[in-house]
Amino acid sequence: MTTLYENAFRTGSRIEGKWNGRVYIVERQLGAGANGLVMLVSRGRSQYALKAGFETIDHQSEINVLKTLSGGETSFRHYLVDVDDFVYQGKTIPFSVLRYIDGATLSTFLQKNGPDWIFVIGTKLLKKLTELHGAGFVFGDLKLENMLISGYGDVELIDFGGVTPKGNSIKQLTEVYDRGYWGMGSRVAEESYDLFAFAILILNALDKQNRFASYRNSLPQNRNKDDLLEMIRGNPHARTVSLFLTKALTGEISSSREAFRLWKSLIVQSRGRSGLHPVRTPWLKVSLAASLLLFGITVYRYLLY
Ligand SMILES: Nc1ncnc2c1ncn2[C@@H]1O[C@H](COP(=O)(O)OP(=O)(O)O)[C@@H](O)[C@H]1O
Ligand SMILES: [Mg+2]
Repeated sequence: MTTLYENAFRTGSRIEGKWNGRVYIVERQLGAGANGLVMLVSRGRSQYALKAGFETIDHQSEINVLKTLSGGETSFRHYLVDVDDFVYQGKTIPFSVLRYIDGATLSTFLQKNGPDWIFVIGTKLLKKLTELHGAGFVFGDLKLENMLISGYGDVELIDFGGVTPKGNSIKQLTEVYDRGYWGMGSRVAEESYDLFAFAILILNALDKQNRFASYRNSLPQNRNKDDLLEMIRGNPHARTVSLFLTKALTGEISSSREAFRLWKSLIVQSRGRSGLHPVRTPWLKVSLAASLLLFGITVYRYLLY
């Protein structure tokens, strides 16, 4: 299966949709997940991300969610561009064409621009979750790999394969982000399910020691709430939002709206205490200073007003 897909979507390949007839040229591979291949493609002067799913049913369910969201008024509206089939050597390969997000993972973005950007990015991610929850869905498989940061800390959710209607069972998950894995809640699609994963994502992004990696195949008795709370306490960058992280992990925040308010108020409070300077270092490199200035402006724009 993999080889067929790799041959079909080699750099330079011409992908012509069977039904809509649009032609895309493959520029390069962007990612290969468990569920398919994602390619950067061009059509005329525009670039897109073309996703070809191995598992037709999963792929179809992702498309159905995106179609529903396309009809609404959320910021996900224009994400799905085209849906079609590609016939390659007699085999039909379903694909979807998505808006191309030219971005970096959150970890890379923080390494480059400084850990205090987490506050702006967390705010924007909570806003996205609020939108999705408002539309009746839970994201499900929220993790570092399923979002990209573009421009000045703009957050884009990119993989809708785990999106589940509220009240149903979560259909796609990643162990360390899953509250069930930690014995801290059910796998029912509730807003608090995403908020748990959000807290893990924040801790993971700020964790230089990559502690979550060691939990991946651990025995159930070796992972518990105290380990997570210890990770919050042991992370100086998480101090501002430690109350939030604790509440999100223990299921004390039930809605993303409430989460958004708490997150914002903790940051505003801490800025009030320290002024608007995220890091107080006597000497700063020009690039860092520029990044901090930008950070300050962004905090003003997105948090305080
Ligand atoms: N719209 C997009 N723009 C840019 N890169 C993307 C886009 N969609 C996916 N990717 C890249 O491809 C990878 C796999 O895509 P994803 O949708 O997460 O597939 P899977 O369902 O297999 O996990 C992502 O981690 C990301 O690097
Ligand atoms: Mg993914």
